[in-house]
Amino acid sequence: MRRESSIHGQWSSKLVFVLAATGSAVGLGNIWRFPYIAGENGGGAFVLIYLACILLIGLPIMMAEIALGRRGRQSPINTMATLSREEGLHRAWGFVGWLGVAAGFIILSYYSVIAGWSLSYVFRAGGGAFTGLDADGVRGMFESLVSDPERLLAWHTLFMIMNVLVVARGVRSGLEKAVKFLMPALLGLLLLLVGYSMSQGHFMEGVSFLFKPDWSEVTGDTILLAMGQAFFTLSLGMGAIMIYGSYLSSRASIFKTSAMVVSADTAVALLAGLAIFPIVFAGGLAPGEGPGLIFITLPMAFAEMPGGLVFGTLFFLLLVTAAWTSSISLMEPAVAWLVENRGLDRPMAAVIVGGIAWFLGLGTILSFSLWSNPIGFNLTLGGEALFIGGTLFEMADYLTSNIMLPLGGLLIALFVGWRMTQRSVEDELGLHSRAFFRAWYYVLRFAAPIGILLVFLKAVNLI
Ligand code: PFF
Repeated sequence: MRRESSIHGQWSSKLVFVLAATGSAVGLGNIWRFPYIAGENGGGAFVLIYLACILLIGLPIMMAEIALGRRGRQSPINTMATLSREEGLHRAWGFVGWLGVAAGFIILSYYSVIAGWSLSYVFRAGGGAFTGLDADGVRGMFESLVSDPERLLAWHTLFMIMNVLVVARGVRSGLEKAVKFLMPALLGLLLLLVGYSMSQGHFMEGVSFLFKPDWSEVTGDTILLAMGQAFFTLSLGMGAIMIYGSYLSSRASIFKTSAMVVSADTAVALLAGLAIFPIVFAGGLAPGEGPGLIFITLPMAFAEMPGGLVFGTLFFLLLVTAAWTSSISLMEPAVAWLVENRGLDRPMAAVIVGGIAWFLGLGTILSFSLWSNPIGFNLTLGGEALFIGGTLFEMADYLTSNIMLPLGGLLIALFVGWRMTQRSVEDELGLHSRAFFRAWYYVLRFAAPIGILLVFLKAVNLI
């Protein structure tokens, strides 16, 4: 059944949906996570696998997720329950919604801590703290920040309050306007940074690190990480894009809007990589620096370039904004559910969701100081000994990006591809070309789910 609108409201235009979904997709995942994970996993081969996952798994699943949201027009939990009922399917499909809400809380808990690092860097950049620092100096500055739980707590709290304030008001007022202006500004600054990187003499080294594959280094885990990054960066598999789709007008084209979001997201990640790796090589740093990568490399560039103070401040400000427009989408599914099922008003629901995620975030804060020793156990799988575990931050990140989001995506592909009637799917998608519909449907039914399953099996050494 087609529904015209959601009780929570509707985007004022198709363009606003694209901006909001791009706002959700483009965030720390592109500028912070992509470069550091690519750096830790050898570059080129990882990047190419990531790009393949974006195209073969990400784009088709994004279309399916938007279609589900628009058809159900409720929080992901209720959308899945309603659509299962309409299609005569088992209620257990509601699990997809719950899995997404759980993933949302866990991601938000650490996302907010990293966004807090970025907030603190806005003030450092603005106060001229980078001036005259070399590689050791910037690393020292980063390490002193992350090893100080009290300072991290203050920034994390501030960032969480920023999210609660926006979500409490509803997505439409304020945010829509902000995204229209801030996203192009972020792109502009990234281009400027790429320009700077080109002038530093190590640009081609950066390019070849990012795009020249060394297949001999690829393991099952590399492939899993690349696929996890594709889900994370596109905000897929947990209902964020589903709920944004539930506020989309019935007339908008799901394919065109998805294609725009996916292209913008990919462009930002690649530009971030092109900006960062040449600076890494010029500064004699290692690409496998870890989560601190951009916080160590970019200040070095800002310290040296003319106007670095202004550009540095602006850059971190935009990074915070990009994180902000992503994290509100992490809260939205749970908030919408509390409003629908618990009769809470939006501000109260936002405070509760923000409060829980804030509390969980303490685990990430301490992962860089008091609790920095990995916890876990040894497991032998497929003949190989594996250590399963890490710090709380590492576990939260690994579990969500590499397991929960792809699992959510797999279930969404199976639901839309195999369980819903083809008629409902075609009706919601409204693609004009039959051939195109068939191609998409085929990828969604076969390529995407089989791909995800194979990656899972490979990662645990079962194939
Ligand atoms: N896509 C966001 C980023 O790349 O930073 C992170 C994210 C937002 C993941 C929303 C998942 C999500 F539902």
